[in-house]
Amino acid sequence: MKVLLADDDVIVLRLLEKLLGRWGYETSCVGDGEAALAAIENPETRPAMAVFDWVMPGIEGLELCRRIKAAPEKGFLYIILLTGRTCEKDVVEGLNSGADDYIAKPIKAEELKSRLAVGARSVDYERRLSEFNRRLQEQNGALEKYARIMESLAEDRARQLVHAERLSSIGEMSAGIAHEINNYLAPVMGYTEMLSMKLGADASLAPERAALYKGYVDNVFKGAQKIKNLVERIRVHSRRLGAGKIPCDVNQVISQSLELCENKLKRFKVEKALTSGLPDLLADPQELEQVFVNLLKNAADAMEGREGGALKIASSLDSSGCVVVKVEDTGSGIPTDKMEHIFESFFTTKGPERGTGLGLSVSKGIVERHGGTISAANRQPCGAVFTVAIPQAPPL
Ligand SMILES: Nc1ncnc2c1ncn2[C@@H]1O[C@H](COP(=O)(O)OP(=O)(O)OP(=O)(O)O)[C@@H](O)[C@H]1O
Ligand SMILES: [Mg+2]
Repeated sequence: MKVLLADDDVIVLRLLEKLLGRWGYETSCVGDGEAALAAIENPETRPAMAVFDWVMPGIEGLELCRRIKAAPEKGFLYIILLTGRTCEKDVVEGLNSGADDYIAKPIKAEELKSRLAVGARSVDYERRLSEFNRRLQEQNGALEKYARIMESLAEDRARQLVHAERLSSIGEMSAGIAHEINNYLAPVMGYTEMLSMKLGADASLAPERAALYKGYVDNVFKGAQKIKNLVERIRVHSRRLGAGKIPCDVNQVISQSLELCENKLKRFKVEKALTSGLPDLLADPQELEQVFVNLLKNAADAMEGREGGALKIASSLDSSGCVVVKVEDTGSGIPTDKMEHIFESFFTTKGPERGTGLGLSVSKGIVERHGGTISAANRQPCGAVFTVAIPQAPPL
């Protein structure tokens, strides 16, 4: 441990140096207060303890104590004052000025040794305390950061839940709206059908004119028929409870899902590579449809604004008897650091207005309830591929 010795009496200084060296201290000696202060303020030479003579030329021992203790931020220094004055008043003045201890001259070696040992213990204690404080501050900093992150996460979650709730009520509403549209479509289709029959049988019209009008009316009927099909799909899709697990043809579910996403996919090239003769899956078709719709919508989102977007959906049978559906796109791909989070509920990179971050987590739940797996990977040179594998019969 480094100890600074300051005394203008060279003999005392040498004696102290010799004794402290013998007791294992690393000493440095100065002959006045200025030199002592300079050694203390220099981080290279700053000691852990100091022994000052009370009376020295320039800055005296007491003044040194005051100046050092007035700047505690520079670190702890244990000071022992050397003095010939041992009356109570002087001792009190010495301690009040910042000295931690004092030694009366003439110096008694054993007493000095014990008092230095007390000082060394204090220095050690101070060091451990400041290290402990430093670590505490670090931990406080980390805790504060953690609390801030949790707070902002909680706010995000609350916003997302409100959004999810809104979406779910839109889902319920759409079932009602689909029903209403169906009601209004019934007379449109009935009357156009009737009109078409009448036009075919109306002798008062020239045959070519009747054929022309009948063509118009038939087109209206076909359009209405398409609306009816679409509305029916929406109604089935938004029904909360699915049909339960029934034997279903995955290719048919894929086709229906593509139909539902027709509008979102119309700007892209869509390739359907469906293997015929696949075994039926014992599955809930509406739930499977939900999975494929989520994957198709995500693919469309990832390709938005990119040149030559192409989507491929393929079905096949793997060697373990699972029906495998792959949805590949040429979109942005998934950043590597996001890959492990995409199946978490509420994880989205689309912002609160565009995504709830529920699509993939709900899909994963559905696939797993069917005993299957869903995974994601990036494609070369761009885009992502999602693979769904479902065993023919789900777990009991
Ligand atoms: N085909 C894909 N290409 C690139 N990134 C994708 C793809 N599919 C999903 N992701 C990433 O995974 C995230 C989570 O997808 P998920 O479907 O769960 O939520 P979302 O699409 O953001 O919102 P929601 O589906 O609820 O409207 C997306 O925000 C996106 O960052
Ligand atoms: Mg999605």
